[in-house]
Amino acid sequence: MYPDPDSRSAKLTQRAMAVLPDGGSRSTIRLSPHAIYVQKGFGSRVTDVDGNELIDFNNNYTSLIHGHSHPDIVAALHEQVARGTAFAFATEAEIELAEMLTARVDGFDMIRFCNSGSEAVMNAIKAARAFTGRPKIAKCEGAYHGSYDFAEVSLGAGPESWGPEEQPNSVPYSHGTPQGVLSDVVVIPFNDPERAEAILDAHADELAGVLFDPVSTQVGLLPPTAAFLDMLTRFRERSGALLIFDEVIAFRQAYGGSHAILGIRPDISSLGKIIGGGLPVGAIAGRREVMQVFEVDGAKARLPHGGTFNANPMTMVAGRAAMANWTEDAVEDLNRMGEHCRESLREAIRVANVPGQVTGSGSLFRFHTHGRSMTTYRDTHPQGQEGQRNEHLFRHLVSSGIYSTPYGLGCVSTATGTEDVERLAEATTGALRTMREAGLFDS
Ligand SMILES: Cc1ncc(COP(=O)(O)O)c(C=O)c1O
Repeated sequence: MYPDPDSRSAKLTQRAMAVLPDGGSRSTIRLSPHAIYVQKGFGSRVTDVDGNELIDFNNNYTSLIHGHSHPDIVAALHEQVARGTAFAFATEAEIELAEMLTARVDGFDMIRFCNSGSEAVMNAIKAARAFTGRPKIAKCEGAYHGSYDFAEVSLGAGPESWGPEEQPNSVPYSHGTPQGVLSDVVVIPFNDPERAEAILDAHADELAGVLFDPVSTQVGLLPPTAAFLDMLTRFRERSGALLIFDEVIAFRQAYGGSHAILGIRPDISSLGKIIGGGLPVGAIAGRREVMQVFEVDGAKARLPHGGTFNANPMTMVAGRAAMANWTEDAVEDLNRMGEHCRESLREAIRVANVPGQVTGSGSLFRFHTHGRSMTTYRDTHPQGQEGQRNEHLFRHLVSSGIYSTPYGLGCVSTATGTEDVERLAEATTGALRTMREAGLFDS
C-alpha cells in the first residue's frame, strides 16, 4: 500500500531529507508523504526497495521507449563502459546516431547533442536568437518546456495570476525570475488562433521564434487545432520568426517525428528523452541554415556551444541501440498499443459510471477526472475536487501495482503488454468506484 510509514522507502525519504532539499534532486518525481525508492527495472516492470512490483506507465517520464534494461541497450553499454565513458575526443558513435536521426526526419538537416531536454530547449531558443538577431520568444500559456527560465514563464499559471485571455500575463515560475526574462517572453493562448495571432503580430519584429510543443502534457495533452497550426505557420512566413518545435516528448509519436504527423517543418526542434536510450540526452536539430549558427565563422561561432558530456559515448551507443530498435513497424505497433490503452481507460470510466475523459495520441495518454470540454490551457486547469481525485487515483493505482504520474499522464513502451493494460484498466475502474463512493465526484 502507498503510503506506508513503515516501508523502507519512507525511511529512505527521512534520511534523504537531511542532505537533499525536499529529499531529492528532481521536483518532478517528488511524492508526498514519501518517495518510492526503486531497486531495479526490467521490461514494463520495476521493483521497489520494499519488493513491490509496479507496472511502469511512466517510463521515466516518457523517455524509455523500450521500457527498462532492453537487452541491446544493456549490451551496447557493457561494451562501451569497458572502453571508457567520456573523452575530450570525438567518437564515431556520435556521427552514427546523428546519421540515424537525420535520415528519418524530413527537415533534420543537421543535429547537435547535449545532455537534457532543458538544455535542448535553451539551445534552440539561443539558436533562434543568434539566427534572427531578435531578443524575444513566444510560447503557449501553461506549457512545460523544461527548466530554462525563459521556457518556464507561465508554466502552471493559475487564475490568480494568468491575466486576461486576450493578453495572458508572463507569469514567473520561480521566485527571483528577472523582469528582463518576463519582458522577453510573449505568452499566447493555446488553440485560440485569433487572440494568439493578435499578440504575435504586436511583437512580430522582436520575436526570434515561437516555441511550440505539439503534444503539451501540461496543456492537457490536447491536440492543436488545424486553425492554430495554420496561424503559426502563416505567422512564421510573414514575420521571419522561427518556428521551434519542442519534440522532447513529441518525437516518440511517429517514426519521422511531429513533422510527419502535422505536415509542418519547423525551423528547429529540441529533442531529448527517447533518443538517448535511457541515458541523459538532449539535441537540437533542424534546417541547415539555422544549425549553422553553431559553426565557427571567423573567430567563433554565432552560438558557441560547449558541454563536458555532450555526445558522450555512453549516451550515443545507448541511443543508437534504442533507435535501431525503433523501426517503422515498432512505432506502428506501439501506437496501436497506445490506442488500446486509451480505449481501455475510456471503458473503465464507462464501467465506473463517473465523469472522465482520456486525451492523447500515439503512445501517450492523459487521464482526466472530469467531463468538461477542453480546448485551451485554461479549460484544463483543475477545478473543484479535481486535485483530490487525481491524488486518490494515483495512490490507488500505486497500491494496485501501477505507476504513472500524479496528474494522470502515462505512456506505453514497446515492452508494455496487453496484460499490463488490462491491469491498468481494472485498477482504474476500482479507483473510480471508490472515489464515487467517497463523494469525490460531487464537485
Ligand atoms: C516538452 C518538454 N520539453 C523539455 C523537457 C525537459 O527535458 P529534461 O527533463 O530532459 O530537461 C521536458 C521534460 O519532461 C518536456 O516534457
